[in-house]
Amino acid sequence: MSNVIEMKEITKIFPGVVANDKVNFSLEKGEIHVLLGENGAGKTTLMNILYGLYQPTSGEIFVNGEKSAIKSPTTAIKLGIGMVHQHFMLVQPFTIAENIVLGNEPAKAGGLRIDMKTAVDNVQKISDEFGLAVDPNIKIQDISVGMQQRVEILKALYRGAEVLILDEPTAVLTPQEIDELGDILKNLTKEGKSIILITHKLKEVMSMSDRITVIRRGVVVETLKTSDTDADSLAELMVGRKVKLTSDRTEKQAGSVILSVKNLKVKDSRKLDAIKDVSFEVKAGEILAIAGVDGNGQRELVEALNGLRKIESGEVMISGIDTTHFHTKDINEIGVGHIPEDRQKRGLVMDYTLAENMILGYHKKEPFSKNGIMNYPEVHKHGKKLIAEFDIRTPSENVLAKSLSGGNQQKVIIAREFYIDPQLLIAAQPTRGLDVGSIEFVHKRLLEQRENNKAVLLISLELDEVLGLADRIAVIYQGKIVGVLDAKDATERKLGIMMAGGQLEEGVKPS
Ligand SMILES: Nc1ncnc2c1ncn2[C@@H]1O[C@H](COP(=O)(O)OP(=O)(O)OP(=O)(O)O)[C@@H](O)[C@H]1O
Ligand SMILES: [Mg+2]
Repeated sequence: MSNVIEMKEITKIFPGVVANDKVNFSLEKGEIHVLLGENGAGKTTLMNILYGLYQPTSGEIFVNGEKSAIKSPTTAIKLGIGMVHQHFMLVQPFTIAENIVLGNEPAKAGGLRIDMKTAVDNVQKISDEFGLAVDPNIKIQDISVGMQQRVEILKALYRGAEVLILDEPTAVLTPQEIDELGDILKNLTKEGKSIILITHKLKEVMSMSDRITVIRRGVVVETLKTSDTDADSLAELMVGRKVKLTSDRTEKQAGSVILSVKNLKVKDSRKLDAIKDVSFEVKAGEILAIAGVDGNGQRELVEALNGLRKIESGEVMISGIDTTHFHTKDINEIGVGHIPEDRQKRGLVMDYTLAENMILGYHKKEPFSKNGIMNYPEVHKHGKKLIAEFDIRTPSENVLAKSLSGGNQQKVIIAREFYIDPQLLIAAQPTRGLDVGSIEFVHKRLLEQRENNKAVLLISLELDEVLGLADRIAVIYQGKIVGVLDAKDATERKLGIMMAGGQLEEGVKPS
């Protein structure tokens, strides 16, 4: 087999961090090669170098055996390297075809007008060739996240990508979409494409890849064949210690009602009914999980409970206080923590330092400020403490949030929201983008909240997580709770049926 990509002795130094340390990495033609490693290990950095977004401090890159200086993504694309980022860069009101040809339009003979018909035909052809099942005429705003991702893949193929880099593509997909992506990637390799995949989900690593390179703190630990390893060994290789992939839950009696939601109605951003007459309760010492396929109202529900979205009718009570029409700030005041789904939009101010981000929402309180004056020594002390406690990989608390790795950004939010020890914690996709070691840690902390008689509302697309942590599981489908299961009666299969809108005969209490 020949190597389409060879990265030799790649080093990348950021202020205070060696993100890649003499990394050797090669990609064979037609393989799916996973890059695996802890949060902050240097995976995204290495791929940003290959795609020309960063220049290495030292080291060489060979593309099809030829030494290449990849000065920018334009060069990368010319060399046949395409990258699908985690945050999609699509224009919402444009059609799929328009997005794909954007910046690369076939011009009508003699004129500057775009030949849309040729564009649509070309896009359709590539879609058919690789089994992507994309309709070029639909607008981006009307398609699911999974479909948007396919559009990004198509866009790279349209530009002639032979090598495709995917950075955590499955973090936002449903289990079914993940299977479909697996099939698509296999198809692509059959047609001779080569793929580099970054993912933290060991199940996918095992089912999708041919080879795996494990990186720890910027250094390659090992490159191995997938058929020669298993999930447990990979977890250990990556973190450097044994990791428990399942959590311990003790028997526990739930206490008084902390969150009570009655007949809640909420609209989405397009003014359509997103939450339709939903009622449920979360008690002290209990974790209630909301399970469901993405886009069934979870986002609107969480925003409504946190005062970020208007409640049309119904009632929300938290610790006996009617918060239905409260502002976010006042909801925080009564001891509600919120881990938002979109960490870059809702969770962090990307241009603030870590220390500042860690007191967001509490910055006007003692000890962080007094009589309107910030107490910076305290703010820094607090930042340092949380960085150590939550094992956030960063040179210091003075670093801007935007320069942290994705998983470490997530850990900053988690640290801040746990720190206030909330009566009620609303955790939306709390472990998205985290490595196995960090997931283990966050799960332990969520169970501790329960142990300490706090209430937790967990919103998660990960059925393993839901089944491992929750006392009760409410399934949401098209804006309604279609059933609430006791965790001990729940199985992945039962939940799957309910999440798809199907009915179970027994064991389901309609809400
Ligand atoms: N633009 C930047 N400026 C400064 N430091 C950076 C920058 N980009 C990355 N880093 C640092 O480089 C290190 C590696 O980050 P990288 O994003 O490559 O990690 P990762 O392996 O992709 O982690 P994750 O799984 O959390 O996404 C981290 O310590 C990060 O803080
Ligand atoms: Mg990353």
